[in-house]
Amino acid sequence: MKGLLLSGGSGTRLRPLTHSGPKQLIPVANKPVLIYALEDLQRAGITDIAVILGLNGREQVIERIGDGSQCGVNVTYIDQGAPLGIAHAVACAEDFMGQDPFVVYLGDNILRHGIAPLVAEFDEGACDAVVALQSVDDPERYGVAELDEASGRLIQLVEKPKAPKSNLALVGVYLFTTPIFDAIRQIEPSWRNELEITDAIQKLIDTRYIVKHHVIQGWWKDTGMPEDILEVNRLLLDDLVPCVEGAVEGGGVVKGRVSIGRGSVLKQGSVVFGPAIIGENCTIDAGTYIGPYTSIGDNTHVSGAHIEDSIVIGDSVITCKETIVESLIGDKTQIRSTDQKLPKGYRLIVGSGSSIDL
Ligand code: DAU
Repeated sequence: MKGLLLSGGSGTRLRPLTHSGPKQLIPVANKPVLIYALEDLQRAGITDIAVILGLNGREQVIERIGDGSQCGVNVTYIDQGAPLGIAHAVACAEDFMGQDPFVVYLGDNILRHGIAPLVAEFDEGACDAVVALQSVDDPERYGVAELDEASGRLIQLVEKPKAPKSNLALVGVYLFTTPIFDAIRQIEPSWRNELEITDAIQKLIDTRYIVKHHVIQGWWKDTGMPEDILEVNRLLLDDLVPCVEGAVEGGGVVKGRVSIGRGSVLKQGSVVFGPAIIGENCTIDAGTYIGPYTSIGDNTHVSGAHIEDSIVIGDSVITCKETIVESLIGDKTQIRSTDQKLPKGYRLIVGSGSSIDL
C-alpha cells in the first residue's frame, strides 16, 4: 500500500500565518501538522509516499520533509499547482500509484490514534474504498455521510451540506483502489469550483463499488481555523511526555508536565506551568510566566510576559509585560511594551488578514 499526503491548497482561513508558509507546516506542540501525518503513515507500515505540493510554500515543505528518511519513509513530490480540489490532487498521483491501493491523508488533519485501525479495516479484494467518519457538532463544515438505517451501509456523501442528514463527518483520511481514478474523471467541479473527493466517492457508491466506512475512536481535528489549531495544541499537550534537556537555573520554577528543549534557559524568577513545551535555544527571563497549554517554538526570547493557552511559532522576541491568552503568534514576531513612549497607545504593524482582540 502507498500513501498520498496533501500539502496543497491556499490556507486562506489561516492568514496571515499562511502568508509566509503553508498551513500544513504550522506547528502544534512544536511539530508541524504535516509531520504528524507522515509519522502516522510510517507507523501504519506505509513508507512509499507521494506529497502533493501547491503553490504556497512548496519549497518550505520540501525543505522540512526532504527525502522523508528522517521519518523513516521515502517521499516523492508531485506538483499540483493551483488548488483545483482534493480529487484533482488525487488524480495528479495516478501514475505514482500504478495498481497499488493507497491511503490519502489530508495534510491539515490530525488523529489521536493515527490511521492503523483504518488500514486494518481495508481488506483488499473485499472492498474498493474505506472512508473514516466521526460524529461532530457542526457537520455543515465537513463532508457528511448518510448511512442506510436498516443495513448500516454508507449510501450518500455530501460536501458541506446546508441541511446535513447526519452528524457523521468525513475525516480527512481515505483508502482507495484504482477505480477512484475513473470516478474522478466522471465528476464536475462543485459550487466552490473544486473537484470534490466526496463527489468521486459518491460516484464509486453509485456505480456499485464497495465503499466501507469506519467510525474512528479518539479525537480528530481539521486544523483549518486558528481556534482548531489551539484546540489541537491543548489535546497534544495533554499527552505530553515531560523532558527537560535545557537548563532550569536556581529559582526558575517548573510545575507539572513540561518539556524544555536543548540550549534553552529558564532564568531565576521565571515560571513554566505545564502542560507546556519550550523549544530549543529559548531564553525565558525573570518575571515571565508560561502558563498551561502553551507551546513556545525554537529561538524565542520571552521576558516578563504572561503567556497562556497559546502557540508562539518561534524565532520571536516577546518583552511586553502583558498577559497573552488564546493567541497564535507567527514566527519572527516582536511584541514589546512601550510604556515610556508618548503618545500612549497601541503601536501595531500587522499583516493582512490578521486578527487582534484588544
Ligand atoms: O478535514 C476533513 C474535510 O476535508 C472533509 O470532511 C471534507 O469532506 C473534505 O472536502 C475536506 O474539506 P476542507 O474544506 O477542510 O478541505 P481543504 O480545502 O481544507 O483541503 C484539505 C487538505 O487538502 C489541505 O491540507 C489542503 C489540501 N488540498 C486542498 C485542495 C482543495 C490540496 O492539496 N489541493 C487542493 O486542491
